[in-house]
Amino acid sequence: MTADAMPAPSHDILAKIKSSAVGLDTEYELATGERRRRVYLDTTASALRLSVVQDTLDHFQPYYSNTHSVLHFGAKLSTSEYAWAHRMVLDFVNADPEHYTAFFVGSGTTGGMNRVARTLRQKRPERDVVVTSIMEHHSNDLPHRKSFPGNVVHVPAEFAKSSIGRVNMERLAETLAEYGERVNYVTITGVSNVTGIINPIHEIARLAHRYGALLVVDAAAMAAHLPIHTSGNADPADDLDVVVFSGHKVYAPGSPGVVVTRKDLFAGQEPQEVGGGMVEDVYTNRYTMLASFPDREEAGTPNICGAIGLAASLYALHRAGMEQIAAEECELITYALEGLARLDGLIIYGETDSSLCRRAGAISFNIRGLEHGLVAAILNDYFNISVRNECFCAHPYVREMITEVLAQEEDDLSDEEIEAMADLHRGMVRASFGIYSTRADADALVEALRQIVARSSEFQDLYTRLPGGDYVHKSFRFDPDTLFSVRGTVDRWLEA
Ligand SMILES: Cc1ncc(COP(=O)(O)O)c(C=O)c1O
Repeated sequence: MTADAMPAPSHDILAKIKSSAVGLDTEYELATGERRRRVYLDTTASALRLSVVQDTLDHFQPYYSNTHSVLHFGAKLSTSEYAWAHRMVLDFVNADPEHYTAFFVGSGTTGGMNRVARTLRQKRPERDVVVTSIMEHHSNDLPHRKSFPGNVVHVPAEFAKSSIGRVNMERLAETLAEYGERVNYVTITGVSNVTGIINPIHEIARLAHRYGALLVVDAAAMAAHLPIHTSGNADPADDLDVVVFSGHKVYAPGSPGVVVTRKDLFAGQEPQEVGGGMVEDVYTNRYTMLASFPDREEAGTPNICGAIGLAASLYALHRAGMEQIAAEECELITYALEGLARLDGLIIYGETDSSLCRRAGAISFNIRGLEHGLVAAILNDYFNISVRNECFCAHPYVREMITEVLAQEEDDLSDEEIEAMADLHRGMVRASFGIYSTRADADALVEALRQIVARSSEFQDLYTRLPGGDYVHKSFRFDPDTLFSVRGTVDRWLEA
């Protein structure tokens, strides 16, 4: 089954989508008393939802029903659209529906990776090692550690000029050669959620397949930014075995996780989660499970609205054209990097020449002498620029990138002193971009950072550092309840 014939991508549709995310125009009152439209540079954490997705969900609500009901009109409609959502996912990642299935899991990429780890451990027990990289989000590390205790090998990042921050391919090849047929799978992020650096996933697939290992791709920070070619590659060894990502990273609400996998990897064993919706027959002393995908992997009532919102977004992105989206975002990231590189006092992590080492989505940096928490707070309070700071759930990579920069700059310190210093100052500021981001957003960031560098002591005096490392303004307070509260909104509706 393939999603029905897809219309060709169009520039006009891309232009329409770009300017229509919910919340692009949200205004806040700043520490200066001025009201301003925010600049949203936190897409890698969660993307704003596209207006077309919201509109689709609003249209769906009157028909919403449980997909496990069968014969009434709403159930038929919900079931058919929910099935279409699965086909859309497969189409979006170019996975052949004959050999691959897509299913939704409860909590984003994290839920998906936990399921994949448990399933592959059970499926291929003789292969007891997982190879991953130091670049990973904890969601693509801890689930594997839990299922393969003591047997997860972390390949370091590259520090040679031209690919600083990418996975070290030489070390990856050595690790695979060392563990050989013990390797169950290699699991790697397609795009770093810290630096935005793109890993060569097809090259890694080829390497892994040489040893009979599988390739699992964490596409959480990739799916919104780059086309994914799961199967049908010129060399079948380049095909990906499993791809996992989350709805909230691709402009959809909520966080359904999606697993796209070769069917044979999940077939022939009891699914990790059992319950309603995935069984054929249940007696008090036995039960038989459905053999068909994706049902057998979706125990319980699924996140129907989450899946439909996600599929709506993927369809809209497809109609806008993922190749074009990737090209335009790459151009924007290069523009932002050039602007940031002109600032004094800024450390940008990873290779900054994007013609040598491509990036998608994110750039992380620090201002020398200012803590990341302070910079993020000032960007918010004085410039209405929303960024993320700290370690982005990728502690090992952040630590390694910071240590490497310190080692280059502080050549009179010992390794221990550098490591202690890196731990003390661990954290970065991350600006991350999406389909709706513009050159004006990048300019606003560069100008704000220029002012922060120029007026650093003035800004420092305005904040108090809390013991945990967060910064609070000495006089300015933001009261979220004045803008929105669930209770207030419900009260207003009830009392209108
Ligand atoms: C690369 C990467 N992997 C995994 C995750 C976890 O995704 P989720 O929070 O949707 O489970 C994230 C989230 O930031 C991510 O960026």
